[in-house]
Amino acid sequence: MVTAEFVIVANRLPVDRVIAPDGEEIWRTSPGGLVAALEPMMRNVDGAWVGWAGMPDLELSPFDADGIRLIPVTLSEQDIEQYYEGFANDTIWPLYHDVIAPPQYHREWWDAYVSVNRRFAESAAATAARNGTVWVHDYQLQLVPEMVRELRPDVTIGYFHHIPFPAHGLYAQLPWRDQVLRGLLGADVVGFQRPQDAANFVAAVRRRLGHETTANSITQPDGRRTQAKAFPISIDTGPYRELARRPDIRARAVEIREGLGNPRCILLGVDRLDYTKGIRHRIKAYGELLDQGRISVEDVAFIQVASPSRARVDAYMHLRDEVELAIGRINGDHDTLGHTAIRYLHQGFPREEMVAMYLAADVMLVTALRDGMNLVAKEYVATRIDNRGVLVLSEFTGASDELRQAVRVNPHDIEGMKDAIITAIEMPREEQSRRMRSMRKRVLEHDVDAWSRSFLTALERAAAQRHQPV
Ligand code: G6P
Repeated sequence: MVTAEFVIVANRLPVDRVIAPDGEEIWRTSPGGLVAALEPMMRNVDGAWVGWAGMPDLELSPFDADGIRLIPVTLSEQDIEQYYEGFANDTIWPLYHDVIAPPQYHREWWDAYVSVNRRFAESAAATAARNGTVWVHDYQLQLVPEMVRELRPDVTIGYFHHIPFPAHGLYAQLPWRDQVLRGLLGADVVGFQRPQDAANFVAAVRRRLGHETTANSITQPDGRRTQAKAFPISIDTGPYRELARRPDIRARAVEIREGLGNPRCILLGVDRLDYTKGIRHRIKAYGELLDQGRISVEDVAFIQVASPSRARVDAYMHLRDEVELAIGRINGDHDTLGHTAIRYLHQGFPREEMVAMYLAADVMLVTALRDGMNLVAKEYVATRIDNRGVLVLSEFTGASDELRQAVRVNPHDIEGMKDAIITAIEMPREEQSRRMRSMRKRVLEHDVDAWSRSFLTALERAAAQRHQPV
């Protein structure tokens, strides 16, 4: 039986079991910002990570990967359909992202969510050492804090919410809204990306459950307190800075430019293929600039990396069709034999190749309609060791609170976005450098290490208070 002082609980393990193109089953790094942020921290603590290995019906014993102890939770095909694709990604995800896609409400999905959350909670409760710490992550596991609290009143419980928390007007749609709030209130500290997310959560608790609240804390009728605050997440900047200096990666960046016919300017978008990311809006803006002759394909190329995500959920299938139709049209209208307008890559890439793309890109387009943080924006900034390059950043991302020197856009305003792209393309070097320097300072100072330290310090303080005699 594995026990650990410090237990991470997240839907995904940091590694995913996948089928390689040759049909063999292999491990690879799991997708998304959550794993990217937590993995470096876990290498430095004596801890365990409870999560799913990404395939149905995998019965695995605990094992070590890259020095992290992993405790797999098994999900059946039906759990994946109802808990993961259903409730997590077709109910909560769209509801919490401003209903960009319509959320689906199904009672069977809710039942599956409760039962899978219980399985994660039981595994965490069985793993945590006496008076240990359990840190639960993200919207797939909102009931786990309360469930662990019931099973293990001795442990300290933190929860971090990686995505937005909506205003009450939207949140109130959720038929299980009170249960979810009670689930989260099992934690000593509930962390959010932005102060507004924390404020929305506190307001929902006050309105729905009638608990006593202050700006950042909630007191339950039995006197137990939960703190709710923003802890903006970040990245491990070291690997980006190191890779950006490597001669082979720099050579690869030059090769990428040449492969596009050496245009004056390369625009880059890097996202999971998700409707929250504003990929369609960005493509539309670029297409209209070409249509109007404000730019040409010889001059300005656009690379869009869209890594496959949640591909069996309807809204994601539709999005893929729409994006590919739009790109096909633009390329058909504007490509020449020597130049492609949009180089579209429906694939994930290793970090080395991503850094080469970040180095090759003169302008990074992050145009999400709603995004908890957006770590791609921070990765681009960390990579630009020469202080060149321009970040175009949606004001609807958590990152826009910190990266104030980006060219800010409202992705719903296509004309505004077109002007922002032109501003970015034409920005003088000195201005690029002034802005990038200031953004780099912010990202290097507030890296993922600073993030986890600030959350864990708040959690320690909350635990100390809890153990004080009243
Ligand atoms: C976002 C979420 C994570 C999730 C990741 C990838 O970053 O906040 O919780 O793991 O997307 O999505 P997936 O559904 O593939 O786990």
